[in-house]
This record gives sequence, C-alpha cells and structure tokens, in this order.
Amino acid sequence: MKKSLKALIAGFLLFHNISAQVAPPLLQSPAKVLDLKIALQHSRITWTIIHSGKTLLEGADPGLTLAEGDSIIQYQLLSWDTTSFSETWSPAYGTNAFIENNYRQIILHLRGESLPNPMKLEFRLYDEGLAYRMRIDGLEDAALRIVAETGSIRLPRTTMRAHWIWADYNTLEKLVQHTPLNEAKHAAAPFTVEDSSGMCISLLEAQLMNYSMCSWKRDSLDNHRYHLHLTPSPRGFAVERNFPIHTPWRVIALAENAARLMESNLVLNLNEPPAIRDWSWVKPIRYIGIWWEMHLGLSEWKTDSMRHGANTANAKRYIDFAARYGIEGVLLEGWNTGWENWGKQGAFDYVTPARDLDLKEVVTYARSKGVEIIGHHETGGDIVDYERKLDSAFAFYNALGIRYVKTGYAGPMNPPTENHHGQAMVNHLNRVMEKAAEYGIMLDVHESVIPSGLSRTWPNLMTFEAVRGMEWNAWSEGNSPDHTCSLPFTRGLAGPIDYTPGIFDILLKNRQEERIAWNGKGRGETAVHSTLAHQAALTVVVYSPMQMFADLPENYERYREAFTVLAQIPANWDETRVIDASIGEWVIVARRKGSDWYIAAISSHMRRIAIPLDFLDKGKFYHYEACLDGAGADPEKWPTSYRIERGVKRSVDILDFIVADGGGALWVLKVK
Ligand code: NOJ
Ligand code: CA
Repeated sequence: MKKSLKALIAGFLLFHNISAQVAPPLLQSPAKVLDLKIALQHSRITWTIIHSGKTLLEGADPGLTLAEGDSIIQYQLLSWDTTSFSETWSPAYGTNAFIENNYRQIILHLRGESLPNPMKLEFRLYDEGLAYRMRIDGLEDAALRIVAETGSIRLPRTTMRAHWIWADYNTLEKLVQHTPLNEAKHAAAPFTVEDSSGMCISLLEAQLMNYSMCSWKRDSLDNHRYHLHLTPSPRGFAVERNFPIHTPWRVIALAENAARLMESNLVLNLNEPPAIRDWSWVKPIRYIGIWWEMHLGLSEWKTDSMRHGANTANAKRYIDFAARYGIEGVLLEGWNTGWENWGKQGAFDYVTPARDLDLKEVVTYARSKGVEIIGHHETGGDIVDYERKLDSAFAFYNALGIRYVKTGYAGPMNPPTENHHGQAMVNHLNRVMEKAAEYGIMLDVHESVIPSGLSRTWPNLMTFEAVRGMEWNAWSEGNSPDHTCSLPFTRGLAGPIDYTPGIFDILLKNRQEERIAWNGKGRGETAVHSTLAHQAALTVVVYSPMQMFADLPENYERYREAFTVLAQIPANWDETRVIDASIGEWVIVARRKGSDWYIAAISSHMRRIAIPLDFLDKGKFYHYEACLDGAGADPEKWPTSYRIERGVKRSVDILDFIVADGGGALWVLKVK
C-alpha cells in the first residue's frame, strides 16, 4: 500500500462556546464552489447548500428515533469547531492512481433530549458535494436501539428527471428507471436526479458499518422532499449497537453534468486510510469462468448432475484458454457439494469438491500455466451457517493457494426473518471481509449491500454485484442498453461493479438446442440486447478491479479478432477522464494505464461520436486497435456485426465514428 503523498490538516481549529441562539458560521468549499449554511430553528437543525449564490438543496432534522420512543431531533448547540483538510492519496487499485481529498469541516457539539452524552454532528463540504454524520460517544457497555434515523433533503424545484430503482429491503437487482421526480416514491441509494440546468445530484451513503442500509422515501406532502429510511429488522428496531455510535456518512454528490458526476470520488474519500497491515498481496485481476454456461442452462451447478459444469476436464479447458490469451484468473462455480440443497439451511460445507472435480490437480495445473483459480462460496443467504464455517472454508482455500473468492447470498436469509439490507447482513459482510484479510483472500461479493467505500480501508474487498447484472440476460426479459448507460451515474457511484460484461454470442444461439429452461425462461427467448462492440466497451465503462470476461471460451474463439482487443483491457487504471455522458443515453470514457489509453463509448441509440484526442501526449504516435459496430449492427437483429480497425493516431486527431442502437466502441491506443 502506497502512503499518502501529502497529507496536511491545514491550519486552524476553532472552538467556540456559544449560546443556543447563535448560528454556526457559513462554510465555504475549498474552491468556493459551494456554501453551507447551518441554522437552528426552534431547536431543530436545518442546512442549506448554496451554489452560484442560490439555494440548491435544503436538509433538515438529522436525528434518531429510539426503540424506547424517544426522539433525538431537538438540540441545544453547545459549541462548534471547524477544520480544513487536504490530501492526495493513492489507492491500492482503482480508476485513478491518485485521488484528491479536499474539504472544509464543521462539527457541531449538540445536547439532545434523551441523550446521556453530547452528539457531534459532522459536516464535510467538498467542491463536489456534502456529507454529514452523527457521532455519540458514551459508556462502553450501554447500547442504543435505533428504530429510525431522521433526516430529509429537499431537492431543487427545477429537478427534471430521476434515475433510480425501487427501494427494496432484499435486493438491488432492478432496472434503472428514468422518470419525472414525482414517480420516485421510494428510491434505493444511490438516487440520482438532474435539474433543468443539467446539474446532477446523487444521494448515497459512505462507510456503512454496524448499521442498516438506507433508502430515500418521498414526503407525503412535499414532492421534492425525501426522508432517509433505514432497512428495518423484525426485531422491532433497525440498529442495535454499543457506544460510541456513528452513523454512516449521508452523502450528497453534486456535479455540473453527468460526466463530472461519474468522476466523483466522494464515497472513497469519506472512508478511512488502509487498516494497518501489509496489503501488497492485493492485486486486480481479469477472469473468465465456469459461470455463464450454467446461467444459459448448458450445464449445472449441482454436483450430482450428469451435466455438472465444474469438472476437471472443463476446468482445464478454461485454464488453457485463459493462459492462451493472458487472462489471469478462472472462476469455478459449482466446484463444491451442497448445490443439491441450494436454498435450504446449512446446504454447503465449503470444503468438499464435486466427485468429478480433482480440485488439487486443477489448482496445480492452473499454477503451472500462471493462472489463478477464483473460488466460490454460494451461501444461499445462510449467514449463520457460513459464519460458523468461515474459518475452515478460508483455511481450505488458503492451503490450496486460492487467493480470490466470489461469495453470494442468493436465497432467503438465515436468520429467517432478517432483511438482506439490514444490520445483520452489514455486520456479516464486514466480518467476512476481516476474516478474508486474515487468510490473504480477496473478495467479489454478490447479493451484497450497497458498497460504501470500505475498500479504501480494506483493499481485499475488491468488488461487488449489488446490481442487476449480466446474468439477467440469460434467464429474464433482460437488461436494455439504457441500463448499462445509467450504471456509472447510479450504482457505480457507490463502488466497483462485477457486472460480468463481454458476452459476444449476443443472441445466445450457440448450442441453443442443449440449453435447458430454468429460472423462468427457456431457450430462444433470451438475448443480451446490445451489440458486440457495446459488450466489449463495457469492460472499460463499468469499473471493477476483478473484471470478468463472461462469455464461453468457444464464443471468444469464434469472434477471436474482437476478443484479442478485449483481452488487452486492464482491471486497474492510472487515470480516468469522462469525455462526455448523458445518463441513460451515452457514456464516453478514456482511461489510462501507464502510457496507453483505452477509450470506450456505449450508447442506447445510434449516434455519431467525435472524440478530440488532445489528452494524448503531444508529438507521440499511438498505434491503435479498435472494435467498432459494423455496418447494419443492431442489438436484436445483427448484434455481432463489428469491425476491427487498426492504425496510428496523435493528439491532434479526432476519433470520429458511429455507434449503433445499443452500440459501442472500444479503442486501445499504445505508444510503441
Ligand atoms: C447469483 C450470482 O449473482 C451469480 O453470479 C451466481 O452465479 C449465482 N448466484 C449462483 O451462485
Ligand atoms: Ca445476483
């Protein structure tokens, strides 16, 4: 782990003792883009974000409702202190090698009714938004039961559109919708809206620990006001925890347009620097896997099936393919017994391989070819049983030298009445993260709660699903291109996404007659609803430090020229520039690794795109390979129409090309 380049707590710490009536001072963001005005009216807190001299957003009533019936919402202001903070830090991996973290902070020291100790209400004002959280110090052995966290945000009257998914206590796997604000009655976070000037606002959370996940519920009278809503627990309260208590950061990301919003690093910045230990073993990886074939119904996870996918011969076939194309990892789903009872309690023991899989031989074979095996723990949602077996499960992988593990919680929760997004799951995921770190294991978590930037502190927490990913295209009506064109501005703001992109057999025709129907849809009814070039481009647009190229090896062999472009895409970046974007419509992004640039565009509809290459090094010659939509490319009729272009470009050039409906383009530019 690289250290902070420069970390300075700039100068002044002011401490005031004041009477209840005095208002705290106006806070100005570092480059004076935003002002924050906090006030106490009738003992209740309101805050206002001012942008270009006008009120942009208002918030009110940060507080807690306790199980005993007490409301902590009225305060007496005791004092405040302000600080400035400025650092440039270097993440273990990410979309940028260096991240700027500059903010002004004000902490209000408040006395609240029914609170034994003063509350600290912390506000951090960035040029890119605002975050606040509550902290209460107190007796070590006393616990607080929180039924609700109060707090509302009033979005601008000029809000035109909302990009959102319905809040749900158990899943985030939904299509992003684009509606007028008044239809967004209860939205999951990140909840993103645009006002009439194109200004983008997203409500989300950072550092979700020992708490339950939040969503945003519209006020019953005021159409622009949203209330923070905690995932409840059947225990009767959302959160139970000991002092000291701190809520997750409530984050309002702001940007003058969609491109700047996609570049936001607020969530990572609001987390702590890496926990003190050696993280040098954490490495991004690209992978293929025994995965899509099960989703297509070509093989099965069940180890007692004649059609079992993760057998020795098939695993070696994937390893050979990975080695041939320089892909670093192979995921084995269905390697272990228990799938026969998927969904029942205690189904898996996590240490017994299938009879037709010689796991040791496969791992040894992979090692001889320089390929990592990515293990898999499907828990079916049984977190009680998984925690019981966690040590033996990770020790088993550790002994074999397996360092990457995909986990999943597809199924009903155990404890049976808990919600997937409640405190029990949040705490479980954090325990798994810490335990995995002990065993030198990097994680890809499916059916997780929303990521909240904890990977800054625990870099082995690599990536997450928490999205309606590729799998839905195999067995449902599928994901439309506007969904992928929305993810960087919604779910993607919270952290990396294991979307599992890169399906080239878009119409799912190959071996169609061998597919068996499962999960609702049979053969011939499903497709990927985008062009091949769009699929290739997603590997750059949708960031994940564990990046899957999800299609079957034989499909990649079939479209080998396109795959050789795809296989060059890294899973880690030194610099990211979002060139242009419109939420749900198109995304154009350029990412740099070393001196090479990778430029990708995806679009929901046909359009002409022109990208000035003025960010390339002047005077240098870049040899490029590109995968572009071919003539007649169409997401439903001819998605595999693509063309490969090669040549030389310089910083004075412009990339000028057309993308199809649901189309895309991927450019790899290297200095030779
Ligand atoms: C759902 C996960 O998202 C998917 O990737 C996995 O293959 C299945 N569960 C089975 O574990
Ligand atoms: Ca899933």
